[in-house]
Amino acid sequence: MKKWYAVLGDPVSHSKSPAMHEHWFGENAIDASYIPVHVPAGEVGEAVRSLRTLGASGWNVTVPHKQAIIPFLDELDSLAEAMQAVNTVRVMPDGRLRGSNTDGPGFVRSLEQAAGPAAKEEKVLIVGAGGAASGIALALMQEGYRHVSVCNRTVGKAEYITGKTGGEALSLAEAEERLGEYRILIQTTPVGMSTARAGLPLGLHNLSPDALVADIVYSPLHTEFLKAAMANGNRIVDGLGMFIFQGALAFREWTGILPDTEKMRERLMREMGYSDVEGKTKELSEK
Ligand code: ATR
Repeated sequence: MKKWYAVLGDPVSHSKSPAMHEHWFGENAIDASYIPVHVPAGEVGEAVRSLRTLGASGWNVTVPHKQAIIPFLDELDSLAEAMQAVNTVRVMPDGRLRGSNTDGPGFVRSLEQAAGPAAKEEKVLIVGAGGAASGIALALMQEGYRHVSVCNRTVGKAEYITGKTGGEALSLAEAEERLGEYRILIQTTPVGMSTARAGLPLGLHNLSPDALVADIVYSPLHTEFLKAAMANGNRIVDGLGMFIFQGALAFREWTGILPDTEKMRERLMREMGYSDVEGKTKELSEK
């Protein structure tokens, strides 16, 4: 019988996950489909019951339900447990629902594609201390990164994360001052994501030109933060890699197959009007 998967969110109509997973199902000759399901806050339990009744094999969970889904699951993997956030659910052969979180590990894979495994020894600074930052910090720690610090507007939230991961918690002003110490900088706040949230979360004037600068936002592909880093001559990691790898790891959770992430990146970049030329990303309209 044809299998089916879904992504639950609110909003969800803009999600690129259905097209990405359907493409991978086709590429791997798996007879399955993947649909977006709009689930308003407060209706997660009902949605889970419906998905089970209708025979879904698994689903992704996106904003704002990553925490709210937990009471409706039977077990969590260690990262989802530590983060108290789930982005992937698998219906096990015995019908139990297993929640996992591929966001942080997806980011680490994307980072290491650019930085290599030696990145583990580098000093890392995460900007922001929300759910995404916490997932990335925990995934970095699980992967053996040794120096992970966090800076945030509200220092207490940074302290909460570094309480689990080690590393220092800094204010944005302290981080700005000491930015030159870090070789990997990871931007996780919504600042610079849209014109309504223009600007940078912190000034980059002390940034080392050798540092690798990453952002988790992929729309726009080049946030103001990444543009400022590029203008400073830094290498960058855009958020599209994290999106693709979190999806690839979810796909593996469901099918046992790690799908082709390179071809997916080319495809999504083209759709978004970009292309990778000699290791650099260019806007097609600029050429
Ligand atoms: P998510 O869970 O998706 O990561 P979040 O929990 O809303 O998102 O976290 C957003 C992060 O961006 C927080 O660290 C927030 O800082 P506070 O903890 O002080 O709220 C940070 N952030 C949001 N707007 C900001 C701004 N204008 N300047 C600096 N940091 C900002």
